[in-house]
Amino acid sequence: MLTYDADLYADDAILEPYGHYRTIRDLGPAVFLSKHRLWCFARYDEVRAALRDYTTFSSAQGVAANDVINTQSLGNTITTDPPEHNKMRRVIKAPLAAAALQSIVPAIEEEAERLVERLVRQKSFDGIADCAQHLPVTIVSKLVGLPEVGRANMLRWASATFDALGTMNDRGRDALPHIQELHRYCTDEATLKGLAQHGWAAAIWRAADEGHVPRSKCPAMMRDYVSPSLDTTILATGSLLWLFGRYPDQWDKVRSDVSLIPGAINEAIRLESPIRGFTRVATRELTCEGRTIQSGSRILLLYASANRDERKWRDPETFDTERDARDQLGFGFGPHVCVGMHLAKLEITALVRAFARRIVRFELGEPERAINNTLRGFARLPVTVH
Ligand code: HEM
Repeated sequence: MLTYDADLYADDAILEPYGHYRTIRDLGPAVFLSKHRLWCFARYDEVRAALRDYTTFSSAQGVAANDVINTQSLGNTITTDPPEHNKMRRVIKAPLAAAALQSIVPAIEEEAERLVERLVRQKSFDGIADCAQHLPVTIVSKLVGLPEVGRANMLRWASATFDALGTMNDRGRDALPHIQELHRYCTDEATLKGLAQHGWAAAIWRAADEGHVPRSKCPAMMRDYVSPSLDTTILATGSLLWLFGRYPDQWDKVRSDVSLIPGAINEAIRLESPIRGFTRVATRELTCEGRTIQSGSRILLLYASANRDERKWRDPETFDTERDARDQLGFGFGPHVCVGMHLAKLEITALVRAFARRIVRFELGEPERAINNTLRGFARLPVTVH
């Protein structure tokens, strides 16, 4: 059996994951991670095929890399398979579909313009706290419609959720009380009474009243909006600003031709995938280049590695805003492909457009990476604009 022994969830591997990922890719299409007792797919073709084939690679026993979370907190959309998944996803997706988002485009664009005007006057700012967080925290959290105390805690709950989706190391264990608090919050009568009437969370309960999903599913579906809606977009935005700062020639291209923005966003998510990977469970015995994966085995699908697989991408380490990166896997693929991707792209596009009209350069200070069991990006990103 081909194995890889490193701890992919140790601080140093989280800070510098790509060397590990390349080694795993070169070892073979399916590699056993001995430290985590998990199989791993790190090549593009295998990850994409697994994401598509939910009958063989099931999400219904959880997508975390540890049993504590996989056995305790099932029930949200990402931890189901069709046909149950289809019903839940339809409800969750309703306000996030491209057409449904049209009504909030002006608000997002106006807020992005105001923010960027302020940041340009300020000249130096933190690309995360002052810039990337602004739209998700001011607009998206309002759209979800939790009462104020919930809005104030969304970032903490989200980062804990992603820590707990990795292995059960100290970070994973420290996250558990925060997750329990989030679970309690989503079932608390006071929360449900305080939901904004026209918010996305309230719409889940209305869908249950209309018989589209069982009421018992609603608290878990509320978590679908709390955990992935802020941090992912914030980290993607931060990484894009960092890339523009590091590669000014690419920024020059984008600011002189804003039609490159959608491609630049895909390219940044390819190169610096905010969600490094989730797991699936094999529902039958598989053979992969002579290796047998037993039925019931858990397999880590490394999106961040697939997105740098040299078998798929030419010069995978290069940030190229003109590359066609539409089939990058940073938003997933297949039945669970990110329901929030149109919203995330809308927010990031509005910001980049506003910058493109006003600034020539992003000058970077010394950034600090966030250390999270599942997420990749920056905790702090000093930026000066010119
Ligand atoms: C740049 C930002 C984002 C990235 C990189 C991202 C990434 C992902 C990925 C990789 C998956 C699939 C995971 C899998 O199949 O294992 C996913 C699913 C999901 N995302 Fe996102 N996401 C982002 C933004 C958002 C936003 C803004 C929301 C909500 C408003 C959201 C809500 C969800 C939900 C609910 C799912 C589960 C869908 C399902 O199971 O059918 N995401 N996301």
